[in-house]
Amino acid sequence: MPAFKRYSKRIKLRKYVDNSYSILIAPSCFHQIPRDIKKHQFGQKYCIITDTNVKKLYGEEFLKLMRDQGLDATMISFQAGERHKTLKTVEKLVSQMVQLGHNRKSCVIALGGGVTGDIAGFAASMYMRGIPFIQIPTTLVAMSDSSIGGKTGVDLTSGKNLVGAFTQPKKVYIDPQVLSTLSKKQVKNGLAEIVKHGLISDKGILRILKKNPEKALNAHTTTITQLLIRSCRVKGRVVEKDELEKGLRMILNYGHSIGHAIEHASNYSLNHGEAIAIGMNLENRLAVDKKILSSKNCERIEELLKLIKLPTRIPAKIDRKPILKALTKDKKNQGETYTFTLLKRPGTPKIVHNITAQDVKAVL
Ligand SMILES: NC(=O)c1ccc[n+]([C@@H]2O[C@H](COP(=O)([O-])OP(=O)(O)OC[C@H]3O[C@@H](n4cnc5c(N)ncnc54)[C@H](O)[C@@H]3O)[C@@H](O)[C@H]2O)c1
Repeated sequence: MPAFKRYSKRIKLRKYVDNSYSILIAPSCFHQIPRDIKKHQFGQKYCIITDTNVKKLYGEEFLKLMRDQGLDATMISFQAGERHKTLKTVEKLVSQMVQLGHNRKSCVIALGGGVTGDIAGFAASMYMRGIPFIQIPTTLVAMSDSSIGGKTGVDLTSGKNLVGAFTQPKKVYIDPQVLSTLSKKQVKNGLAEIVKHGLISDKGILRILKKNPEKALNAHTTTITQLLIRSCRVKGRVVEKDELEKGLRMILNYGHSIGHAIEHASNYSLNHGEAIAIGMNLENRLAVDKKILSSKNCERIEELLKLIKLPTRIPAKIDRKPILKALTKDKKNQGETYTFTLLKRPGTPKIVHNITAQDVKAVL
C-alpha cells in the first residue's frame, strides 16, 4: 500500500450578508427613476427586461429617459402572459443579454408586472452566476406583492413557480400613476393580495377598502398609494423576519392553499386574484369549522371581498374533484395532511398543521 497522506482544508465562507434595500412609493416618480439609478450606480450597464405590452406603454420611454441620463442601457422583451413564464423565455433573454454585451457589472431592470419581475429577477440571479437587479413594478399585484421579497422563478408544465431562486432586488421603485393604463380586472387581481395583507397583519388596510371601495377599484391615486404603503409594509416586515420562507413567511400563503388549487382546477379561467379571494373565504370557513375564527368575522370578510367585486364561492361549472387533486400536488403540501395559514380574527393569522383533505372537502 502506498503511503497515504491525508489532507483536509476547511473553506471558510461564513460571512455577514446585507441584502437590505429600499422601496420607494411616489406618485409620478417614473420620470425621476433613471436619475436615482444613476446616483446609486447599481451597474455599469443596464438591461431593461419587459414584456411586449409594457414595452409599448412605458418601456420605450423609460429607455430614452435612461439614455438621457447618460446611462448605458438596452432593452429586451418577451411575449406578455403567464404562458411565457418559462425556462425557454429566460434562456432566450439571457442569450440576448450576451449578444448585447452585458457582463458581470451589468444590472437588470425588471419593468412590468409580476411575470416580468419573476422572469427578470430569475434571469439576473443566474446571468454570469448572478448580477444585481431592480424592480419597477407596473401592475397592482407586482407593486403590492411580487416585487418585494426576492422570490423569482418560472413555471414548468407540471406546475407554477417550480424553478426559481431567492434573490433580493437592489431597489424597488413604485409609481402608482402607471396603474392608470391597467385594466379593472388586473386592479382587482392586486386588490385580492392587498386584502390578504390586511387580513394577516393590518386592519388599517381593511378600513381603507371598506371606506373607499370604488376608489380602490378605480386605482384612485391617493387611495391606492395609501393601500400600497401599508401593503408593502406588511410584506416587508414578514420578509425581514423570514427571508427564505422557513417559517413566518408562510402566513403570506393565507388564501393561497385552496386558492392555487382552484386556479389550477379552473384551468386558469379564474384569474389569480379571483381564485385567491375564493380561497380566502373558503379557508375562513374551514377556520370556522375548526373553531379558530368566529362565523361573524367570516361573514364580515366575505362582505368586504364582495364590496370590492371579488368572488367568494367556486363557480358551479368548476368540478370539485380536481381541486383536491391539485392541493396534493402543491409543493408546499407534504404527506397526508396540509399546513394552512388560517385566521383567528382579521389581522391575526395562525399556522395550522394537520388539515386533512376531508376538512377541505367540507368547505368546497
Ligand atoms: N415573486 C413573488 O413573490 C410573487 C408574488 C405574487 C405573484 N407572483 C407572480 O406574479 C405573476 C402575476 O403578476 P401580474 O398579475 O402582474 O401579471 P403580469 O405580469 O402578466 O401582468 C398582467 C398583464 O398586465 C399587463 N401590464 C403590466 N403593467 C401594465 C400597465 N401599467 N398598464 C397596462 N397593462 C399592464 C401585462 O403586460 C400583462 O398582460 C404570476 O406569475 C405570479 O406567480 C409572484
